[in-house]
Amino acid sequence: MKKVGFIGWRGMVGSVLMERMGEEKDFLKMESYFFSTSKGGEEAPVVANGYPKVLSSTDLKELMKMDILVSCQGGEFTLEMHPALRNSGWKGYWIDAASTLRMKSDSVIILDPVNRHIIQDSISKGMKDFIGGNCTVSLMLIALHGLFKADLVEWVSSMTYQAASGAGAKNMLELLAQMQTVGNKYGANPALGALEMEKEVNSLIASDSFPKANFGHPLALNILPWIDSEMPNGQSKEEWKAQVEANKILQTQKEIPIDGTCIRVGALRCHSQAMTIKLTKSVELATVESLIAEANPWVKLIPNNKAETLKKLTPASVSGTLNIPIGRVRKMTLGDQYLNAFTCGDQLLWGAAEPLRCTLRMLV
Ligand code: HSE
Repeated sequence: MKKVGFIGWRGMVGSVLMERMGEEKDFLKMESYFFSTSKGGEEAPVVANGYPKVLSSTDLKELMKMDILVSCQGGEFTLEMHPALRNSGWKGYWIDAASTLRMKSDSVIILDPVNRHIIQDSISKGMKDFIGGNCTVSLMLIALHGLFKADLVEWVSSMTYQAASGAGAKNMLELLAQMQTVGNKYGANPALGALEMEKEVNSLIASDSFPKANFGHPLALNILPWIDSEMPNGQSKEEWKAQVEANKILQTQKEIPIDGTCIRVGALRCHSQAMTIKLTKSVELATVESLIAEANPWVKLIPNNKAETLKKLTPASVSGTLNIPIGRVRKMTLGDQYLNAFTCGDQLLWGAAEPLRCTLRMLV
């Protein structure tokens, strides 16, 4: 059995990964070792074939004994330890949730439902670094998989509605604290009129005492149309990732333009995206729908009607599931080749942990 080391298994993505591996009985297929920056020597989580003590994640010698390392520890750890391991001659497989190595020429961006054949091919070619994609990119590609497979996508413009979880666990808690602060002060006060209430709430969320250490701004009762750092061309880094990562995942011959505006909203753990798709040619809507619906086991086509959309195509209904619903699929008034669509997906499952788990399963 392969020796697999886990780093960052207590964080949010790591915890979701552990939970999924437990559900799928993955631990039976490997020997598991748990590494930590701060908990070395403590009792490790109890899993089948698990080593009982936590090892130090800066112990190069112990890390080098592993056949596979799975890191959910974040970019800084990757930046420091990945070159240290490779420079010391470690030849094992590196599976990582962080973006650090994604665009390197010798890494593969993994998204099992969409590019399993590329992952398999890369393993047989001897590639060693397998990196999870950006969450919005992965969720979009699973949703639009059928159209990409049929070479029907000329370009995509995607406007995202990204949940607090994408910014981290502290940010999720901060969103709730912000909501609580407003709720505690103004919860259902019929004595105040709506306009008077709005004025007071707006000055509360703008005040210095409002909890916003992590976001830096109110997210409750607000939206934040910038995610990640600034790029020289005016895109945010999150927006930049869409095109470069999607084309790398799909290994397109000709670059497909993908661009839009990425926006943080007050959802907790599901990212949504409204997409305008320019098709490469005119295709009947029924054909488009069946291509989308049949592309992989996870995508779920939601008929374009109000009742089913509001029931099945929302962050609240998708949270905690592996389903990737896509709906609002219709031809736009812009022209016959312009398609409208909306999709939702769990940021921590297919958006982060699940692609890592699938590749780990392939490797063991
Ligand atoms: N960058 C994403 C976000 C996280 O901020 O929502 C997942 O890749």
